[in-house]
Amino acid sequence: MERTLSIIKPDGVEKNVVGEIISRFEKNGLNIAAMKKIKLSKSDAEGFYAVHKERPFFGSLTDFMSRGPVVVIVLEGEGAISKNREIMGATNPEEAAEGTIRKDFATNIEENTVHGSDAPETAEVEINYFFNAFEITG
Ligand code: CMP
Repeated sequence: MERTLSIIKPDGVEKNVVGEIISRFEKNGLNIAAMKKIKLSKSDAEGFYAVHKERPFFGSLTDFMSRGPVVVIVLEGEGAISKNREIMGATNPEEAAEGTIRKDFATNIEENTVHGSDAPETAEVEINYFFNAFEITG
């Protein structure tokens, strides 16, 4: 069993597609081990995306991520990290495959509706950024 962090970003919450997105995870065999709706401050978003702090889009990305609530989810299942990335589609919705979340809902490369951890090490750090052990029920 593997765990990964998913975030339904402010654009996904604003478009009212939270249930639709969660349903796609469940239909693809991923289990919700933990979930909550929260509002990130600018500095929460900067901490989460610290690896991108030298990128030109860092300021705009962290403004976007803190403009409204997000839903943070721990997904669990066999190959959860790669399965989630498949369901999400490419970062840029213009390159995302048909039937993926980003193809169907994303606005552009920044407002791309969902985040998913890219490796086991980052999954662990990202899950711990938002959840404590009591909140992850499996
Ligand atoms: P995510 O998978 O959460 O990881 C980093 C985020 O930065 C990415 O999704 C996008 O929201 C954003 N991002 C990546 N590349 C760009 C870009 N070229 N311009 C603007 N935002 C970007």
